[in-house]
Amino acid sequence: MSTATLTLNDQAYEFPVTVGSEGEVGIDIGKLRGQSRAITLDPGYGNTGSCESAITYIDGENGILRYRGYDIDELAEKASFVEVSYLLVYGDLPTRTELDKFRSRLVSHSMLHEDMKKFYEGFPPSAHPMSVLSTMVASLSTYYSNEDEEDAVEKNIIRLLAKLKTIAAFSYKKSIGQPFVYPRNDLDFVGDFMRMMFAVPTEPYELSDVVHEALDMLLILHADHEQNCSTSTVRMVGSSGADIFSTVSAGVSALSGPLHGGANQAVIQMLKGIRDDGGDYAKYIEKAKDKSDPFRLMGFGHRVYKNFDPRARLIKEAADRVLARLGHSDPLLDIAKHLERIALEDDYFVERRLYPNLDFYSGIVYRAMGLPTNMFTVLFALGRLPGWIAQWKEMRDQKSRIHRPRQIYVGHTARPYVPLHER
Ligand code: ACO
Repeated sequence: MSTATLTLNDQAYEFPVTVGSEGEVGIDIGKLRGQSRAITLDPGYGNTGSCESAITYIDGENGILRYRGYDIDELAEKASFVEVSYLLVYGDLPTRTELDKFRSRLVSHSMLHEDMKKFYEGFPPSAHPMSVLSTMVASLSTYYSNEDEEDAVEKNIIRLLAKLKTIAAFSYKKSIGQPFVYPRNDLDFVGDFMRMMFAVPTEPYELSDVVHEALDMLLILHADHEQNCSTSTVRMVGSSGADIFSTVSAGVSALSGPLHGGANQAVIQMLKGIRDDGGDYAKYIEKAKDKSDPFRLMGFGHRVYKNFDPRARLIKEAADRVLARLGHSDPLLDIAKHLERIALEDDYFVERRLYPNLDFYSGIVYRAMGLPTNMFTVLFALGRLPGWIAQWKEMRDQKSRIHRPRQIYVGHTARPYVPLHER
């Protein structure tokens, strides 16, 4: 085994080096503080591996993404979201029998406890569906046993995978004042979700094949992305032994921010703003480059991808396909393509290797499907759920220690208390 040597105050310390199955190198500094009293400082964790994981591999330099060894392009083209969920959570693609059993377990857990419907009455109509989602997911822990035994844990995994789409669709129905549509066991995952979103009691509902196919693919593209902000949150919260529902609820909250999953909604707001401002792309590129201007090109840049995000390419193709097949045109897609073209030729973006990420085009596809803008991040959460669960399960199986980073204290040194009348 190779080692790395650190010299601190003329004293050398040796640390073992870990090499992953794709050749990634990590210096195991587990004994650093014990030996030297020093810690590493890495705000934002850009250089810190928080775990070993066998779930997702990303090579950001070469635009590679694989789930459990399978390339994202191949999964997006050939697999279904339910198959990919099984792959992520249980480690291998299911056989026909395993898939049938998994599907039938999912459909038999898709209804919500009737009392949970009352919670929706308490939210104001303006509530963001992501806040509703995280609240409702956390509330599942009040209904289901949090025993740590394998059977109970496994059942809660299935419950969560089955119920999230019902919770999500009910949030939308509540926000537009329509009656809840209950799940149906004879429909597949996407068909059932879309029906719960858009069916009304007064008329039949039909889902077009192109929308069905595109949404299934979009969910696959969102299904996992190794140790991103929401997944690290899931591992962090889960490491304390909190139950799966509270843990995933924290992941939903982390995802809601505009620098993470909330970017898909922010991209559409940005594109609309540019359109309403006369469509002057160049002005917005200049604003994004101006360090004194808080404006950022939403949907651009990524901590890990320093090449094209492979998911963005697949989503851009899907946007063209869905719009063409539905016979729609969307001026926001034209604005997005112009912005992308200008940005990719601009030195600022080229030097920093800033490319469109998956959020840049996903909103355009969701819009074409008739999905409301404030539900975009909820769709991201629906797609990401199997990844969060897989990562949580792996952390649990690894008997991970509680996550507890250290800090470098830079505040006041000891000072005496000053009585109130002397301040
Ligand atoms: N527009 C303009 N400049 C940018 C952008 C952007 N979207 N993204 C990064 N930069 C610049 C930064 O200002 C910085 O410039 P500097 O070196 O001159 O200071 C440089 O590029 C590096 O950026 P960081 O912010 O250090 O990169 P980091 O890895 O911390 O952040 C992030 C990544 C949050 C994705 C960032 O690129 C961003 O804010 N993008 C817009 C929001 C977005 O699309 N988020 C979705 C990410 S994908 C996902 O979570 C699903």
